[in-house]
Amino acid sequence: MAAKNDSNNVKKLPVATERMVLDEAAIEAARHSLDQGAVTPHYGPWREDVIKLLNDSLATELVCVLRYKRHHFTAQGLASPKIAEEFLVHATEEAAHADRIAQRIVQLGGEPDFSPDSLTKRSHAAYDDSADLKAMIKSNLVAERVAIESYSQLIEMIGDKDSTTRRLLEDILADEQEHADELKDWLAT
Ligand SMILES: [Fe+2]
Ligand SMILES: [Fe+2]
Repeated sequence: MAAKNDSNNVKKLPVATERMVLDEAAIEAARHSLDQGAVTPHYGPWREDVIKLLNDSLATELVCVLRYKRHHFTAQGLASPKIAEEFLVHATEEAAHADRIAQRIVQLGGEPDFSPDSLTKRSHAAYDDSADLKAMIKSNLVAERVAIESYSQLIEMIGDKDSTTRRLLEDILADEQEHADELKDWLAT
C-alpha cells in the first residue's frame, strides 16, 4: 500500500530567524550627499583603500603601455615584425584597461593619478628597454604575471565589498591571462 503524505519524506524548509528588510535610514541618507554621486551609504568604509589600490593598478597599466610601445617601435627591425605588431595590440589593450580603471576611480569620488614622476614607483610591473626581442618578450611575460597576481589578490580582497569594481578587475584579469599565454607561446618559438 502506498504511503499517504509521509511527512518524514518531506524536506523541511529552513525557518527565517530574521526578516529580509531594506535599511530605510540608509535609503533616506542616499537622497542626500549628492556630491558623492554613485557612492551611497552601503559602499562601506573601504572607498579610500579601493581608490588607492585602483591608482596603483592604473600606474601599472600606464607603465605597461609605455613598455609595449617601446618594444613595438624598437622591435621593428628585428626578425619578427609580427611580434612587434602584437606588442602594439597589447599596448592598446593596456591603455583601454587604464581608461576603465581611471573612470571607476572617478565614479568612486577619487582622482586618477596620471603623474609621470611617480609612475614606476607606484606600478607593480616594471618598465623595460631591452634591445633583444627575446628579452622583450620575457620582460613582458614577467609584467603580465605580476599583473595577474596583483589583480587576482585585488579581486579576492574586494569580494562582495564592491561588485562593480570586482567585475571590472575580473574583465581585465582575463585579458592579462590571454596576454601571458600568448607571450609564453612566443617565448617558446
Ligand atoms: Fe592591462
Ligand atoms: Fe596585459
